[in-house]
Amino acid sequence: RRRVVIDTDPGLDDAVAILHALNCGRFDVLGLTTVAGNIGLDVVTRNAGRLLALMGRGDIPVFAGAAEPLVRKGIDEAAIHGDDGLGCVILPEPAAAPGEDAVGWLADLLAREEPGTVDIFALGPLTNVATLVLLHPAAANRIGRIIAMGGAIDEKGNVGPRSEFNLACDPEAADIVLRAGLDLTLVPLDVTRRVRADRDYVAGLRASGVAGETAAGLIEAYFHNATGRESRPLHDPCVMLLALAPEMFRIETRDLAVDLGGGPDAGALVGEGDTVAVKVAMGVDADAALALLAGGLA
Ligand code: BDR
Ligand code: CA
Repeated sequence: RRRVVIDTDPGLDDAVAILHALNCGRFDVLGLTTVAGNIGLDVVTRNAGRLLALMGRGDIPVFAGAAEPLVRKGIDEAAIHGDDGLGCVILPEPAAAPGEDAVGWLADLLAREEPGTVDIFALGPLTNVATLVLLHPAAANRIGRIIAMGGAIDEKGNVGPRSEFNLACDPEAADIVLRAGLDLTLVPLDVTRRVRADRDYVAGLRASGVAGETAAGLIEAYFHNATGRESRPLHDPCVMLLALAPEMFRIETRDLAVDLGGGPDAGALVGEGDTVAVKVAMGVDADAALALLAGGLA
C-alpha cells in the first residue's frame, strides 16, 4: 500500500476522491492537508474532517494549509460546489479539531520517513506544495511522487479559454512546483473530462455501501448546477486512479510553462517560453477508470 498525503480543497469531486482513497484499501492515507480553492479554508478543512468522520477514520489527521494563493486573490466556486463546498450532502461533524500549519507538518513527516516513500495527491491549487518547496526544499526532495489534478493541454480551459481552475487559482504556485525537479505527473482536463458519471453510474454507486452512497449524493449535487447535462466529469478521482492503474492512462512528456500574466489565461499551461519537461496524462481508458472507481467505492 502506497503511503499518501492528500492535499485538497473539498469540493465535491475532491470528496469523491477522498472517499475512494479511504475505502479502496489500496492506500495508507497519512493525513489530509487543506488549501483554499473551491471555497474558503475553514470550510474545506471542516469538510475534510467530516469525510474522515463519516468513514470512521478520525485517527487520520487534518492540517489546515494556505488560506490564500501565494500572490493573487482566489476564485470563488461556491456556485458549483454549494456554500458548504459539498452540495449540502449530510455528513457527521469532524471527530477532532484540525491541526494548523499543514506545510510544517508535511515537512516534519517527510524528514522523518524514508525518502521516496510518501506520495502527495494534489487535488487543489498548488499553494501548499509550492510553499513546501520554498520553505523546506530538502523535505520536498524526499517526496515519492506528486500526482496533481490540474491544467488543460489540448482541451479548452474551465476558467479562461486555456486555463484550468487549480492552476488558475495560484499560477505562481504551479510555476514553482513545475520547476522544482520533483517526480510530478499532471492530470489535466484532457483526461478528467473523459471520466464522466452519468445517472446510471450514480445509481450504481448508490447501491454500494456508505462510501458509494455518499459519493452518489455528492455527484448528484454536482448535477444540480449543470441543468441539462447528461454527465459530469470526475476530475480529482482521476489522481487516485492513475496511481492505482497507470496502464489505463497514456502519459506523455510535454515541454510546458505556466502563463504568469494578468489576463484571463493566467495559470494556463503553454508550450512556449521558458518551458520544462513535465509528465502529463493525455489519454485514459474511461470505462476501465470508471469501473475501478466504482469498485473502490463499493
Ligand atoms: C478542479 O477544480 C476544482 O473545482 C475541482 O475540485 C478540481 O480539482 C477542476 O478544474
Ligand atoms: Ca479539487
